[in-house]
Amino acid sequence: MKKLASIVLAGCMAVSLAACGGAASSSAPASSSEAVSAAESAAESAAESVEAPQGGKVGVCIYKFDDAFMTTYRNALQEILEGKGYEVTIVDGNNDQAKQNEQINTFITQGVDALIINPVMTSAADQIISTVKDADIPTVLINREPTADQMSAYNKLVYVGCDAAQSGTFQGELILDTANKGDINGDGKVSYIMIQGDPENIDAQLRTEYSVKALKDAGVEVEQLDLQRGDWDRNKGQEIAQNDLAKYGNQIEVVFCNNDDMAIGALQAIEAAGRKVNEDIYLVGVDALDAALNEVANGKMTGTVLNDANGQASQAVACMEELLGGKTFEAGSQSVYVDYVKVTPENVKDFQ
Ligand code: BGC
Repeated sequence: MKKLASIVLAGCMAVSLAACGGAASSSAPASSSEAVSAAESAAESAAESVEAPQGGKVGVCIYKFDDAFMTTYRNALQEILEGKGYEVTIVDGNNDQAKQNEQINTFITQGVDALIINPVMTSAADQIISTVKDADIPTVLINREPTADQMSAYNKLVYVGCDAAQSGTFQGELILDTANKGDINGDGKVSYIMIQGDPENIDAQLRTEYSVKALKDAGVEVEQLDLQRGDWDRNKGQEIAQNDLAKYGNQIEVVFCNNDDMAIGALQAIEAAGRKVNEDIYLVGVDALDAALNEVANGKMTGTVLNDANGQASQAVACMEELLGGKTFEAGSQSVYVDYVKVTPENVKDFQ
């Protein structure tokens, strides 16, 4: 793991203590110094309060293996859990909620000590929570955030993720930081296309909203030429960008993608259309996948936002251990957030 990423990871671990070890917090700290001091005091109370037992069986349900970001995330989970001596089984939900429900039931029948679940559908949260509650299995939900109200049904349940609005805001700021604030053709407005993830997912909803909001809040006029769902998928990102480039041509100044995999697809279409990122079009994603970091470094993506898979995996395991140690979580304090980080050509080396 590279330098800054390790520092970021250390920061996230600190937040993890703040959230899971001490006074559980439902929001990310406003600044890193706040995170550190919160972590210090939380570390003290964590040391007093919970003895996390290690070892035991952990079932991990991933919504689908064929997702670039969740692949990094699941590999990190596996490494951390196995490194701590847990017996880990990770299963592929194949983007099928009925299949995932069966997998959860199978894990329960097999007597797992804890579950880490990346739901297929956010809308299935009630069903999942009631199943794990009935079986009394400590559970960490990841990546697809249920409402605080839904989680309040079970006090041995925590959600670990990020504040999706923050990633959207950072994407907007990446555009605001360009020489012309996104208005390449100087017509007084930023004309963009939005390639959205799965719109059922709050990450997709909030990134879509807050990326554009950042521009508007800075007083920049915007024009949406198109918004389409690309379901987090590289090929769909490529197709949408290709069609839009054929339809809107030079009108498109900014391509917002809710994740990097779709941005990599969009980049293929941009290059095929003879356009040049950072010269006649801007392109931003989220995740900081290795491929996207390379494109940011090569000047072929304007920027991305680190969605810290390693930090979230560490956090998820820390919370799981808190639950295994007997800690329960009060309603309203069941969401634990890891910070996003803006990645630009200036700092990209720190993440590679
Ligand atoms: C990531 C996407 C991923 C999705 C899966 C998001 O947070 O940015 O890349 O496909 O989670 O739910």
